[in-house]
Amino acid sequence: MNTINERRSIRKYKEEEVPNYLIEKLVEAASKSPSAKNRQPWKYIVYSGAGKSELLDIMEAALDRESETHELLPDSAGGLSDAYNTLKIMRQAPCLIIVMNTNGKSPFENINSDDRITEICDTLSIGASIENMLLKATELGLGTLWIANTCFAYKDLTSFIGEKGQLIGAIALGYADESPNQRPRKAMEDILEFR
Ligand SMILES: Cc1cc2nc3c(=O)[nH]c(=O)nc-3n(C[C@H](O)[C@H](O)[C@H](O)COP(=O)(O)O)c2cc1C
Repeated sequence: MNTINERRSIRKYKEEEVPNYLIEKLVEAASKSPSAKNRQPWKYIVYSGAGKSELLDIMEAALDRESETHELLPDSAGGLSDAYNTLKIMRQAPCLIIVMNTNGKSPFENINSDDRITEICDTLSIGASIENMLLKATELGLGTLWIANTCFAYKDLTSFIGEKGQLIGAIALGYADESPNQRPRKAMEDILEFR
């Protein structure tokens, strides 16, 4: 419970690199999460240095194009400014972990209801594994930010990454250079009901 209470979304990072052995500990924690039918539908791809810059250049160009055309997510155009903010944070964090659903299809393809149920179960499994990773990072004194704003650059990022499956999002990782207060939570009576 202490680690759960201490975890924060971190949006300012120190320059210090995160050693690979610590990243392996995070992925070990992620891999211990439950998953539907034990499919373990996750893959984590770590970007740092020049590789990370190149990935984020691709994302920035795609955000610029989306801002002009709104071709990918027209009904979510209001979220684009937040996506640019997230991009700045991703540039500052020394490390970025791309999260893939190895069984997933592009959200821009149509799928039937059976496949949608499978996808929901796989997405939940990956969410559980990401949370394991964030909690392990907190325990190790590392800061993280869970990122879904990659969606605005979905097609460009997936073709750059070149990995089969669905791009779920990313996790920014590094040593925190801020200590934000806990964000407000809904009251117990609003989220819990005994019947
Ligand atoms: C699925 C998911 C996607 C998120 N995407 C982003 C994002 O793209 N950019 C960002 O700044 N924060 C993102 N967040 C972080 C949330 O804003 C944050 O978790 C929430 O405001 C609560 O704050 P806390 O994590 O400090 O408790 C995301 C969180 C989740 C769970």
